[in-house]
Order: sequence, then structure tokens, then C-alpha cells
Amino acid sequence: MSPTDPRPTLAVVTGASAGIGAALARDISRRGRPVLAIARRIERLQTLAAEARALGQAEIIPFTVDLAREGAPEKVAEAAREHGGAAWLVNNAGFGAYGQFERLDPARVREMIRLNCETLVLLSHALLPDLRAAGDGVLLNVASAAAFQATPYMSVYGATKAFVLSFSEGLAEELRGTGVYVGAYCPGPVSTEFGEVAGVGSRFERVPGLLTAEEAAREALAQIERRAVVHVPTAVYRLTSTAVRFMPRAVVRRLAALAHREEK
Ligand SMILES: NC(=O)c1ccc[n+]([C@@H]2O[C@H](COP(=O)([O-])OP(=O)(O)OC[C@H]3O[C@@H](n4cnc5c(N)ncnc54)[C@H](OP(=O)(O)O)[C@@H]3O)[C@@H](O)[C@H]2O)c1
Repeated sequence: MSPTDPRPTLAVVTGASAGIGAALARDISRRGRPVLAIARRIERLQTLAAEARALGQAEIIPFTVDLAREGAPEKVAEAAREHGGAAWLVNNAGFGAYGQFERLDPARVREMIRLNCETLVLLSHALLPDLRAAGDGVLLNVASAAAFQATPYMSVYGATKAFVLSFSEGLAEELRGTGVYVGAYCPGPVSTEFGEVAGVGSRFERVPGLLTAEEAAREALAQIERRAVVHVPTAVYRLTSTAVRFMPRAVVRRLAALAHREEK
């Protein structure tokens, strides 16, 4: 990749201030691709940028915006074009909210649907011309192992991730043969700030197949290399995401409810 290459080379990574997104931004920069790192917490992004500079890696450019706000996708697209245009878009920013649906704050629910679904779709739409121009564009949407079945007590979150999976698979077919790769990344639990933000307490610490953010980022990059449309890292969630396709839906949702129910 040369700075004089007229084709876009930038990787836009949303949710880059923490967890999977921060690890992805570091890995992508280490591999020589400049990163437009998006999140609300600017200091975190600045630290990431300084680390990359100190290590002589490709540039990490901080860009702070609340992606759940109206007009955010357009702002990100504009910033990406100021830096030569996006060749990669990793729609990673997202959050969940744990608990009975009727007790969730409706404003928080709206923010979740906006961030996890609406922004992801509109940002994909805004950046697709750049990804096409790149010749070998990459659009990776971070869904979840929660996308494959209902997730009682995180019902809205699971539904947003089912949306992301369905949207990504549809788009992957629409863009077949265009040079733009589209993938849905579907990890099970990853040790990040997600649990704290979602209010799941300590239940994440006990789950099988828990990945570190670094492991989750490496798996996502391996998916991109293989151009796999759907990827579930860790054997246990590959097994469950396959098994649910052959089990009665009533059984699947009952088991999911028992696994996720609130502790008394
Ligand atoms: N951790 C898991 O177990 C797990 C499993 C499967 C899928 N996932 C998915 O993986 C993705 C990354 O999650 P994570 O686990 O890395 O969580 P995390 O550590 O909480 O990181 C979430 C990132 O999203 C950003 N973000 C949240 N709201 C935002 C907003 N309104 N505008 C801009 N940025 C925003 C946060 O940055 P700021 O707060 O600085 O804005 C942060 O950088 C999410 O889509 C999540 O659903 C996570």
C-alpha cells in the first residue's frame, strides 16, 4: 500500500475505543493499513493513535462521534473521504441491555436499535461506493452468536444481531462478483466492557468458550482473509448455532430462557 495509490486504503473501524474494536484497530494498523478509529471517548482513541505512532505502524486516526445520533453515518463517510476513502468498513460498535424487556428504559432501547441496526446499515450504504472503488473492499459486520436464536432477557439485543446477520448475508449475495466482500462475524462471549455496559453482572465470567478481545480480533481478521460470509469462532458456539437449525424452535427458546434468566 503506497500513500500515492489513488485507490482507497483506509479501514474504518467503529467502536474502536474498547474491546474487540480497539484490538481490531491495533491489528489492522500493525498489518500496515491506516485506520479511521471511531467512538465517543476521544482520549481512548488518542492513546491508540499514539501507540501506533510509537511502534511505527500504519496511522490510526481518531474520529469522535456518537453513532446513535442522526447524521452520524454521513459524518463518518465525510471524514473517511478526507483521508482518501474507505477500503474496509468494520461495523463493530454496538451494545446490549440485559433484563426483562418491560423494565428496560425505552430511550436506551431506541439507542441500541439505532446503533446496532440503523447506523450499521446507513454507514454501509454511505461507504459502499468507496469500498467498490477500492477494488477489493471489505465490509465486516459484527453480529453475535446471539443472532441464531431468540435471547430471552436480552430479546432486543438478540433481535438486532439477527438483523445484522440477515442483512449481511443478503448484501453478500447482492455484491457477489463486485469485488466487495461482506461478512457477518458472530462471536460468543468475549471479555470486554460489553458485560458491564449491558448489565449482565458476572455471568460472562462463567461461560464456556470465553475469548479475549485480542483473540476475537484475530478471528475476525482470519474471517476476512478467508472471505467467509458467516463466521462463528469457538467450537462450542459453532455447535450451538448449527444445532438450533435442527431443533424445534419451542425447545430452543425455552433452553435459551433457562440459560439467560435473571438470578433471584
Ligand atoms: N463482548 C461480547 O461478548 C460480544 C459477543 C458477541 C458480539 N459482540 C459485539 O461486538 C461488538 C463490540 O463489542 P465489545 O464487546 O467490544 O464491547 P465494548 O468493549 O463495550 O466496546 C463497544 C465499543 O462501541 C463503542 N460505542 C458504543 N456506543 C457508541 C456510540 N453511540 N457511538 C460511537 N461508538 C459507540 C464504544 O465506544 P465509546 O463508548 O467510546 O463510544 C466501544 O468502543 C458489539 O457490536 C457487540 O454487540 C460482543
